[in-house]
Amino acid sequence: MNKKPLILGIESSCDETAASIITENEQGMPTILSSIVSSQVDVHKEFGGVVPELAARSHIDKIDLITKKAIDESGIKIEDIDAVAATAGPGLVVCLSVGLSFGKAIASSLNIPFIAVNHLEGHALSPKLNLELNYPYLLLLISGGHTQFLSVQHLGNYKRLGTTIDDALGEAYDKTAKLLGIEFPGGPRIEIYAKKGNPTKYILPKPIFYRGGCNLSFAGLKTAVLKISKQINTKQEKYDLAASFQRTIEEILYKKSKIAFDEFKRMNQANKNKFVVAGGVAANKRIREVLTNLCVEENFEAIFPPINLCGDNAAMIALVGLEKFKLSQFDNLSYPVKPRWPLDENAIFLKGAGVKL
Ligand code: KG4
Ligand code: ZN
Repeated sequence: MNKKPLILGIESSCDETAASIITENEQGMPTILSSIVSSQVDVHKEFGGVVPELAARSHIDKIDLITKKAIDESGIKIEDIDAVAATAGPGLVVCLSVGLSFGKAIASSLNIPFIAVNHLEGHALSPKLNLELNYPYLLLLISGGHTQFLSVQHLGNYKRLGTTIDDALGEAYDKTAKLLGIEFPGGPRIEIYAKKGNPTKYILPKPIFYRGGCNLSFAGLKTAVLKISKQINTKQEKYDLAASFQRTIEEILYKKSKIAFDEFKRMNQANKNKFVVAGGVAANKRIREVLTNLCVEENFEAIFPPINLCGDNAAMIALVGLEKFKLSQFDNLSYPVKPRWPLDENAIFLKGAGVKL
C-alpha cells in the first residue's frame, strides 16, 4: 500500500487565519483530517470593514497556534507532512505575506515541497472536498472580492465567460447590510432579514440585465438601495428592502447563469453538464434554491460545497496543493505574493476594463 500524501494548507489572504491537513483515501478521494478557521470578525467589527494592518497583525499572532492546532487535531506528526500549500494571492499583501512566509518556513525546515496556491482556485475546487467531480465544469464564483463565470477545463486552466464590471456580489451584500444598519460582516444577515420582508415592495434596478452576455453589474443596485435606505425608518421597511434586494439578486443570477450555460455548452461537449457555485455568497440558501431550479430546467447538475467550506478555509487550499503535489507541480521558495492574480491570466482583469457590453 502506497503512503497517501499528507498536505498542510495555510490561508491568510483576508480576515480568516486558517490551517488544514488533508490526505486522500484508497479511492483517491480527498479526506479532511483537520480544518481550523479563526475569524477576525471581532477585530474589524467596530471599523465596519477589514482593516489590512490589523488583519495582518492578527494573522501574525495566530498563524503558529492555528497551524499547530490543525496538526494536533489531524493526529499526524509534523514530520509526516509531505508538502506545504499556502495562499499566495489574490488578497491583501500584508495578510498574504504572513501565511506565505510561514508556509515557506515550514516547507524549508522540513525540506519538503512548497506549493503556492491561488485562493480563487481553492474556491473553484472546493466541492471536490466531498464529492467526485470531473472536469470540465461551469463555475460561478461569488465571493467578497470576485464574481465570475468560468469554464473550468482542468487544474490550472480556466476560461472566463463573464465577470462583474464593478462590485463583487459579496461586496453588494455587505454594502446593503451596512446601509440597513447591520453590523459587519452583514452579508449573511441580509438573508435572515429578507425572510421577514416583502420581496416585491421595492423595485430595484438590474444593471446590464438585457445586454453584456453573462457579465454582471451591481453598482447601480447599491445606489438604489442607498436612496431608499434614506427614506425608510421602520424595521419592517428594512426587512422589505432586504427581501427586495435578495429577490433582485436571484433574478440577475438566474438570467446570467442561463446565458453562461449556453456559452459553456458551446465550448464543451460533456455528457452531463455541471454547474458549480462556490465562494462565500454560495452559502446563501435562496441563491442555492434558485440556481438548483434553473439546473433542473436546463438539465445541468447543480453542485455546491458544504456551507462550512463556502467561506474562506485552508482545506480548499490544501486540496489545490494535493492536486498539484500529485502532478509534481512545486514552487520555489522565492515565489512572490500576488495581490492580483486572475485565474485566467490572459484575461484583462482591471475592474470593468475590456468588458464589451
Ligand atoms: O469567499 P469569502 O469567504 O471571502 C472572499 O474570498 O471574499 O466570501 C465572503 C463574502 C462576504 O461578502 C460575505 O458577506 C458573503 O461572502 N456571504 C454571504 C453569505 N455568507 C457569506 N452573502 C450572502 N448570503 C450569505 N449567506
Ligand atoms: Zn475567498
